[in-house]
Amino acid sequence: MLSDTLNATSQYEQDAFVEMFRKDASWIDATGLDWDRSWQHLEKRLAEGALGDMNFHGFLGPEHLTRLYNWIDRIPYPNFLNGPPFERLVALARAADLAVMDRLGLDPELHGIDAVSVYNAQDFRFQTPYQVPWRQRVRTFLDFGAGHGRQANLWLQTAPQLTTFIAVDAFPATYLTQRLYYQALGLTLNDHMDMTQQPFVIHEDPKVVNHLPSWRLDLVPDGSVDMVCAVQVLRELSRGMLRFALRQFHRILRTDGALYIRDHIGFHNVNMVDMDRVLAASGFVAEWQPALIDGKDVHGVPRIWRKPNLNAIIGGKV
Ligand SMILES: C[S@@+](CC[C@H](N)C(=O)[O-])C[C@H]1O[C@@H](n2cnc3c(N)ncnc32)[C@H](O)[C@@H]1O
Repeated sequence: MLSDTLNATSQYEQDAFVEMFRKDASWIDATGLDWDRSWQHLEKRLAEGALGDMNFHGFLGPEHLTRLYNWIDRIPYPNFLNGPPFERLVALARAADLAVMDRLGLDPELHGIDAVSVYNAQDFRFQTPYQVPWRQRVRTFLDFGAGHGRQANLWLQTAPQLTTFIAVDAFPATYLTQRLYYQALGLTLNDHMDMTQQPFVIHEDPKVVNHLPSWRLDLVPDGSVDMVCAVQVLRELSRGMLRFALRQFHRILRTDGALYIRDHIGFHNVNMVDMDRVLAASGFVAEWQPALIDGKDVHGVPRIWRKPNLNAIIGGKV
């Protein structure tokens, strides 16, 4: 039976994740962060009922994908974007998700994917809100804290200049759901978790998802990424983890590279950090923040920060 096969696969995948964690022990130590404890922090929030039926450890196979879809679906998503180009993006995202559900034997009627499609299309529009010079075009995109993996949906379908897609996470269940989703999208996985002999190397191929845990961000070369995406994640990191992530973002981004953030301003600030000050102190320059009202115009305010090109700041002819 398909469900037996998938359950066996889920257990196999969980064991493989634990094995990766064990093999990466020296790298984990080198980060100086207690990754186990950060998981416990979320377990505590789960126990308080703050995260609904979410489960970050036990991977449930395709059922996990539906839980992550429904997590987005439960919140009302205001949307002021409209018009044919936007509707085309929504339709593309939706068609890809329907195909995923079909492949995994899930019933789309039970798991509203419409809100997910709109959220995906909004992100895609906000990530590329205006024309930029060639050097700022996004050829390498890194999704940090990838959820069920939804950024791959539109980026790998609709961004012709994209050559390299990288996804990063740290929690077993989301990491394993991402693996399931990317493969169900028809993409090839290049995953640090699958490396037994040879070392993990990023593949430049728009049909490949490069996948690795955050404690191995060192595997992403310096100055190699054009956009880091962090949606609904930075404010939930412990302060140590946030410091680690921002240092890594600054290192892996090219000069002129963008950091796309979408989260809440003025509420749901779990780590209680003054994010704008921390981003500025970490070497980023604020570039774009539309005057949208969170919860009224949009869910989570999109912003673009950039690793500055000093020539743009100094000005004049170079
Ligand atoms: C609220 S979800 C947002 C998911 C996704 N960005 C989206 O918009 O659909 C937070 C995500 O961050 C991940 N996460 C939490 N701590 C992390 C860490 N230290 N490194 C990488 N990802 C992390 C979680 O596993 C989850 O995928």
